[in-house]
Amino acid sequence: MKKLIDFLKFTAGVLAAANAMAPVPVIIGGNIVAEHSEPYILSLQRSGSHFCGGSLGTFVSKGVTAAHCYYSSGVTAVAGAHNIKQSESTTQKIQVDTFRRHPNYNSRTLINDIAVLLLRSSFVIDDYVVPISLPAHQNNEWMPNGADVRVCGWGNTSSSSSNYPSELHCVNVDIVSNSICNDRSHYNGEILKGMFCAGILDVGGKDACQGDSGGPVTYNGQLVGATSWGYGCAQAKYPGVYTDVAMFKNWIDSQ
Ligand code: ARG
Repeated sequence: MKKLIDFLKFTAGVLAAANAMAPVPVIIGGNIVAEHSEPYILSLQRSGSHFCGGSLGTFVSKGVTAAHCYYSSGVTAVAGAHNIKQSESTTQKIQVDTFRRHPNYNSRTLINDIAVLLLRSSFVIDDYVVPISLPAHQNNEWMPNGADVRVCGWGNTSSSSSNYPSELHCVNVDIVSNSICNDRSHYNGEILKGMFCAGILDVGGKDACQGDSGGPVTYNGQLVGATSWGYGCAQAKYPGVYTDVAMFKNWIDSQ
């Protein structure tokens, strides 16, 4: 699947380059947010470089991210950031002690793409660093088709090239039911239990992208998703795919 995703990303890039006059949807299609408007977001960094997002969920010494963001060591969780390319007095940086992937994560299908970060110490809650609550545990798809959710990150803002922003971006997208997202004109069966889709179906232009992985999707003030995968970014037929945090709540809590 990774090969297919990369091929589609490449194809999208070529098509976009051939159509250079069209505005490139620039997170894609979102905006720079007010500083510290998402005080639960984490930037996961190695040697000072951002590589994935995460969230501070409920506990000040435990982060939530995607399993595919895994590194066995050398990961620092940065909270309280807005511009990750500047040194900001609002940030708190804590090393990840244990990066615990879901035991049934599968890197081929990306099922169970969720991980808990057990931190070496606790973040101090202040104006810039505030955990976010998780919804109640769910056993099945639970958000209504069309529900408005918000995804944030420091990932690529261009669907056709690499344009990594310094400042945090967010975009609002719509839940796409698994049955629609899985039909033959969309992901054709690749959306598995514990995943949900969100985007602007059959329109595109708004999405997460590379570098947003592991980062938060919020709905009604709760953490409902972690950015996981997609074919390319912001494509009309292929919404973003997220891990359904509520379906892993019991596992997250027990770590
Ligand atoms: N896997 C990507 C990452 O590592 C996230 C991709 C999200 N793609 C999408 N179209 N929503 O950053």
